Amino acid sequence: MKILGLFLLACSLLYGAKAAKVVNVGEKFAESKNCKACHLHLVQDWQKSWHAKSHFKKDEYFQKSIEYYSKKTRKSLNGVKVECATCHNPRISVTSTGMDYEIEAVLGLDKGSKVNKALDDDHLQEGINCVVCHNIDKIHSDRDQSYRGINRITWTPSGVMSGPFDDAKSPYHKVEYRDFMGGNSNKLCFVCHANDKSHRKLVFTNMEKEFKSGGKKCVDCHMGPKREGVASTLRIENGKAKKRMIRSHGFKGAHYEDMIKDSLELTTWQKDDDIVIMLENPQPHNIPSGMGARELLIELEYKNGSKIIKKDLVSLTTHYKDRKKKPTIPHLAKTMSKDMSVPAQGQKVIKVKREKAARSVQVSVYYRLVNDEVRGLLDLKDEIWSKKMPIASKRLKLK
Ligand code: HEC
Ligand code: HEC
Ligand code: HEC
Ligand code: HEC
Ligand code: HEC
Repeated sequence: MKILGLFLLACSLLYGAKAAKVVNVGEKFAESKNCKACHLHLVQDWQKSWHAKSHFKKDEYFQKSIEYYSKKTRKSLNGVKVECATCHNPRISVTSTGMDYEIEAVLGLDKGSKVNKALDDDHLQEGINCVVCHNIDKIHSDRDQSYRGINRITWTPSGVMSGPFDDAKSPYHKVEYRDFMGGNSNKLCFVCHANDKSHRKLVFTNMEKEFKSGGKKCVDCHMGPKREGVASTLRIENGKAKKRMIRSHGFKGAHYEDMIKDSLELTTWQKDDDIVIMLENPQPHNIPSGMGARELLIELEYKNGSKIIKKDLVSLTTHYKDRKKKPTIPHLAKTMSKDMSVPAQGQKVIKVKREKAARSVQVSVYYRLVNDEVRGLLDLKDEIWSKKMPIASKRLKLK
């Protein structure tokens, strides 16, 4: 045991492993149930969001990506979980693992370790919850691009909530105004929604770089417009709850059909023997964007009268290759194929040879969360990953 201990110490010195840092959130604040008494409406919005599902136990795609990543890189499963927690679970009390932990894990000596305890913390299962965003004290924009999530911020002391109002008071917690909760909230979103990199340092998505504001902020679309309501239901003003302009906490994105519908404008016309399809993107970020391996599908249904005579399918997606040029998942990619997304506030034009016998064609555009390739590699079972969500559809008479 003594020799092993020395060996581990030597390894940890060699690899400069960081000591586990314990981040404390008092029991009174750690989970969203603690906020329900006064912010029930916001807790209910958030519970339906995918921020509430960012823990690996709640998202099949994320969980299977972790397992696949661990298998291919031979890094321990828990080591990978800690790595991904940087953005998916930033309240974790251990922020990195070193070679010493990897050796412990291989030898089966990791039980009861700091890392395993940190990952077993039940509070983490809430993922990106209230005390992730509202306990951010500072965002270090001066740090290099590659510092994201937990590495880009410092926390407020437990019990201090950063918020959008400069005149709020609460008997339950302290309150402090921050510009990244008010006028400058894009900065908060870019803590995690930017510079997502693979194991091989390939940046497969960067929303901050592609973002073209056009006067809109992330929260305008993903938390809805400001509307009259209450921030807290506690009766703090003449025996009544204080009226405020508030937003929803739904953070709806690509997992919701109502967000996907009409997110692109479709125009189609005939030019000689070609069917020209133009997709215009009014949104300030690319579509698809965010996670890699998302997909746009264009379906062409050729008709003669009401009879369908032929179907064509065009896929717009990005494919990822590992070091040996084999298909892989975004997080393991060394290279990627051309970006096929429709650029922010831009357009993409595609031409397809028409079917000669057809009198008309129905052109339909769909969105899919995971393309065939990555779904196959990870063996994703839930139908949400393969479902075709409608964006727009147009009928074109052919000459
Ligand atoms: C006992 C009631 C109560 C509980 C429980 C409570 N809050 Fe509050 N909270 C308030 C009140 C009152 C305000 C001020 C509302 C106002 O001024 O309109 C407030 C304001 C806030 C604000 C806005 C601060 C600002 O400056 O804009 C945030 C963020 C917040 N609370 C987060 C939380 C979180 C997270 C929890 C759970 C860990 C929580 N609160 C639990 C009563 C409560
Ligand atoms: C992903 C980050 C994020 C998470 C998670 C989050 N909030 Fe917020 N919250 C914000 C932002 C940003 C605003 C300011 C929105 C604006 O006014 O532009 C806000 C505003 C608020 C406000 C002021 C009233 C309002 O709705 O505008 C309260 C109170 C609040 N949040 C409580 C909570 C509680 C309770 C939770 C957990 C259920 C929570 N928040 C989770 C980002 C977050
Ligand atoms: C602490 C990191 C972090 C911060 C800060 C953060 N997000 Fe997220 N966000 C994530 C992660 C991780 C996911 C993916 C969760 C999953 O699908 O498992 C996500 C998912 C989303 C989605 C996709 C939801 C869907 O249905 O597809 C939207 C939209 C979103 N976030 C908007 C925002 C906005 C707006 C802000 C700023 C107010 C913000 N996020 C701040 C990490 C963060
Ligand atoms: C004008 C409205 C609008 C604004 C502003 C906006 N988005 Fe979106 N966003 C959308 C729509 C519509 C979708 C759904 C279509 C899609 O998934 O590509 C979406 C999708 C997303 C997704 C899921 C993407 C995917 O394909 O997985 C994320 C994450 C996201 N937005 C984050 C952000 C962040 C962060 C900002 C600010 C930097 C932002 N959005 C600003 C409209 C907007
Ligand atoms: C830089 C911050 C960051 C890190 C680190 C990170 N992610 Fe994410 N991840 C995000 C954000 C933001 C989203 C939401 C993007 C979207 O929905 O389009 C996301 C979404 C995902 C999704 C899609 C989930 C869904 O429901 O569609 C998967 C899978 C995923 N991440 C896997 C991983 C894995 C595996 C790791 C660790 C190897 C990891 N992520 C590390 C920020 C991060």
